[in-house]
Amino acid sequence: MTPKSFLLSDEVHRYLLDHTEPIDDVQADLIEETAGLGDISRMQIAPEQGAFMTMLTRLMDVTSAIEIGTFTGYSALAIARGLPPGGRLLCLDVSPEWTDIAKRYWDRAGIADRIELRLGPALETMRSLPQDPAYDLAFVDADKPEYPAYVEELYPRVRTNGLIIIDNTLRDGRVIPGHETNEDDRIIQAFNHTLAVDQRFDTLLLPLADGLTFLRKR
Ligand SMILES: C[S@@+](CC[C@H](N)C(=O)[O-])C[C@H]1O[C@@H](n2cnc3c(N)ncnc32)[C@H](O)[C@@H]1O
Repeated sequence: MTPKSFLLSDEVHRYLLDHTEPIDDVQADLIEETAGLGDISRMQIAPEQGAFMTMLTRLMDVTSAIEIGTFTGYSALAIARGLPPGGRLLCLDVSPEWTDIAKRYWDRAGIADRIELRLGPALETMRSLPQDPAYDLAFVDADKPEYPAYVEELYPRVRTNGLIIIDNTLRDGRVIPGHETNEDDRIIQAFNHTLAVDQRFDTLLLPLADGLTFLRKR
């Protein structure tokens, strides 16, 4: 398995996976089927990130979560597995094709009843949700230009001391000034700068996978 973190060699990545809760057959099959989609499979989160998100969901006693960007369902599976019975995860995506794959694996894992999937542009769906602080945890992993807007829509909907996690905030290191190669890199660079001084959150950028930013709502 190729490391999704540009920070790790193949050898160190293999070592950390060998010393982490092993993935089960459902996760292994989902990784394999997603790999069959070709280059686009790079969008799937890393297995160690999945283990991390399950543990975090459990540690935070999350009962209500929201995900922006579901693809074939690996991160949703990770969060849903950390929820207690009766816990809820709302997944937002635009792709029926990719999320049909996700649904098959959620069924196989026995957690489909914890997940609601809504198809359509995520911003529109989010704006249709009540403005109550209903969510303990939010995971953002969709189209980069909308990241700032996603955080604004999530802010009133996440409880105080709740967490917004944002994926791909290191962009393989291309957030370093002078290393940007595309518009998404520049967007995330500016976004990271804004978040670092945003007084509404405690902000932490972790070097896990392609960079995970934690925003704890104050
Ligand atoms: C990086 S992938 C998500 C990977 C997923 N978290 C996983 O673990 O496999 C990004 C997803 O965002 C979705 N997406 C892109 N633009 C979107 C939008 N405007 N609204 C909702 N979903 C969007 C894509 O269809 C794609 O499935």
